[in-house]
Amino acid sequence: MADIPFNVPELVGRELEYVGESMTSGHTSSGGPFSARAGAVLQEATGAEEVLLTTSCTTALELSAMLLDLGPDDTVVVPSFTFTSSALAFARQGAKILFCDIEPETLGIDPDHLATLLDDTVRAVVVVHYAGVACDMAGVRRVLADRPDVVVVEDAAHGLFGRYEGEPLGSLGRFASLSFHETKNFVCGEGGALLLNDRKDVERARILYDKGTDRQAFFLGQVDKYSWRDTGSSFGMSDTLAAYLLGQLEQAESIQARRRAVWEGYAEALAGPAEQLGLRLPVVPDECDPAYHLFHVLLPDAELRPRVMATMREQGIATTFHYVTLHDSAGGRRFAARPTECPVSSDVSSRLVRLPFFNSLSSGDVERVARELVAAVRMAG
Ligand SMILES: Cc1ncc(COP(=O)(O)O)c(C=O)c1O
Repeated sequence: MADIPFNVPELVGRELEYVGESMTSGHTSSGGPFSARAGAVLQEATGAEEVLLTTSCTTALELSAMLLDLGPDDTVVVPSFTFTSSALAFARQGAKILFCDIEPETLGIDPDHLATLLDDTVRAVVVVHYAGVACDMAGVRRVLADRPDVVVVEDAAHGLFGRYEGEPLGSLGRFASLSFHETKNFVCGEGGALLLNDRKDVERARILYDKGTDRQAFFLGQVDKYSWRDTGSSFGMSDTLAAYLLGQLEQAESIQARRRAVWEGYAEALAGPAEQLGLRLPVVPDECDPAYHLFHVLLPDAELRPRVMATMREQGIATTFHYVTLHDSAGGRRFAARPTECPVSSDVSSRLVRLPFFNSLSSGDVERVARELVAAVRMAG
């Protein structure tokens, strides 16, 4: 194991106490008191109409795809540079996918390419805020201005507590998904949430969320018995995991402050060498407040990457690449409405390196990683 690992999920507050309380309370399934409390924190942070805690970000996206009643005549536009779930959730609902390129600064969806992809079959556009920096939402809105029928789904897996023009990430689409996977800023092992930003989706979403039944209406005393009403699945997060999550969310301020310090430490240490070595550091447009999910650099040349990563590994530092493009993957080709060109995605995917990033990474270790990265790039070049 590297002496500076890539990620360390940490206990930061009352997680163990809350998990113990949940396990002895008798309510460990979904929809219990910890889910209500964790959901309330997320609602307060994002202003969502409703927060449904799910078993993952993937299932949150699947629930949004179900709510859209997508079928084989529908297409969903998804950036090629993202995790499979951003596309898979819609493909398994039967829709076809149109892969869109990203723009080279924020690494979010490229509105100009999006404009060329829109046709009558497009029902939704998935936007991803890579690393917790908002994509060009103004550009996306401009392109969709005369297509109010096209739904924006925010995959905000990296975005919780980030902002765009002062608005919380997760509040910018009709639906937004969050992730609490062990690699994220806030963790509970595996977990996620679907944020509903339009009141009209709430009633049906509650039914699809709970195995197609109106059980939530029953619990709220709105019906005298619950029964099968619609499609759906078992999306709910166990209340024991919600207890874990609540322990994390209660420490949001300190978690975000620590991650910001790590991010700024890298940015400062690498600014000078980046210019000399042709490294591209993350770009944060003025209108964006990042969520500080990860720190990446773009090497000047794809061929350097294996050598740089190997040297870092020899120095005891774990680094990793990120998304392998979807448009030219086997799954992407299978589920695409038609082939599309995504050259920026391919280029970024081949040159990107992620540096160790976790709450307790010390400033000394940040400096060491930066120093070793610079040495590794020099050696590889
Ligand atoms: C952009 C994006 N969306 C979705 C996911 C899937 O999240 P989960 O593991 O919670 O399903 C990931 C995972 O890293 C991701 O990076």
